[in-house]
Amino acid sequence: MTHSRIAGTGSYLPSRLVTNADLEKMVETSDEWIRTRTGIERRHLAAPEETSSVLAEHAARRALRSAGLTVEDVDFIVVGTTTPDLVFPNTGTLLQQRLGIHNCPAFALETACSGFIYALSVADKFVRAGEVKCALVVGTECLSRIVDWNDRGTCVLFGDGAGAVVLTPSTEPGIIATHLHSDGKYQDLLKFPFGPSSGFDQLRAGVPAGITMQGNEVFKVAVRTLSRLVDETLAKNGINKDQIDWLVPHQANLRIIQSAADKLDMPMEKVIVTVQDHGNTSAASIPLALDTAVRDGRIRRGQLLLMETFGGGFTWGSALVRY
Ligand code: ACO
Repeated sequence: MTHSRIAGTGSYLPSRLVTNADLEKMVETSDEWIRTRTGIERRHLAAPEETSSVLAEHAARRALRSAGLTVEDVDFIVVGTTTPDLVFPNTGTLLQQRLGIHNCPAFALETACSGFIYALSVADKFVRAGEVKCALVVGTECLSRIVDWNDRGTCVLFGDGAGAVVLTPSTEPGIIATHLHSDGKYQDLLKFPFGPSSGFDQLRAGVPAGITMQGNEVFKVAVRTLSRLVDETLAKNGINKDQIDWLVPHQANLRIIQSAADKLDMPMEKVIVTVQDHGNTSAASIPLALDTAVRDGRIRRGQLLLMETFGGGFTWGSALVRY
């Protein structure tokens, strides 16, 4: 039976670094408040010409290089993003054009912070079905473009960046399992309240818009849901907590990450944490964290990884991966 495996990883961060001290000059906040509530110390913000597909191209090229493959090998592209360059063409197709690839399927999906895990799950199924030999799976975001920079409750949380993996067929798993969920009843707790078919006229008229969030409620549901997700992932795959080498969580908030680690009885030394340096980069956060830990030598071939995520919708999901 064919499985898929991660053949290479890559990531990219825009060069502009914005520290908590920089934000103190923009809104009424403090480094101490941001660090103690979220763990975030700095984040990278994209330059005006850096769109989500631009960030994705850098990450994708690095992932291909680390897999020892080239753009000619790619036969499938799926991008998770909350911040597409355009309404259409989709960001997958725009990335495809940037890479100079033609004809293979390329598309984007929008499941907020769960975008990468959803994209990984989709690509895994195409590889396992024998239809795809080299899938490019990308999470990319320019969240700074949809944040209200006057709202201290949200603007301190987010950052820009991209991460990518290359999936290839393998006789051994690789991607052992993915578990995806969503529940639209929570849609009003965290959202960007305008879109092409809803309120677009207000955007055109220049009504100020940004991500809106009921932070406390999001926090509580996230902790509860991720706890259930960890139980489900372990039980359905017959895995004990102590078999997991690394937790690679979505990087939204250090306290949410810590609660997932507690659930697994996992010391923080076994958790990949990049939220201090990246902020919440939504769909880009897990592949960014993964690539960081692969490149600094913590994550090694053969180790068992648990990735878990939670985001707007709400959507949530996990991936159990033998790296
Ligand atoms: N600086 C200083 N004070 C602030 C700031 C800020 N940046 N933002 C809010 N405050 C104030 C509030 O106005 C409030 O003041 P008040 O008591 O005078 O009314 C006070 O701080 C406490 O506000 P809370 O919202 O209750 O603060 P809380 O401890 O819940 O922390 C936070 C807020 C960090 C947003 C937290 O709720 C959280 O992390 N929630 C999860 C949300 C999240 O991670 N969302 C990302 C997307 S979803 C995902 O990726 C999982």
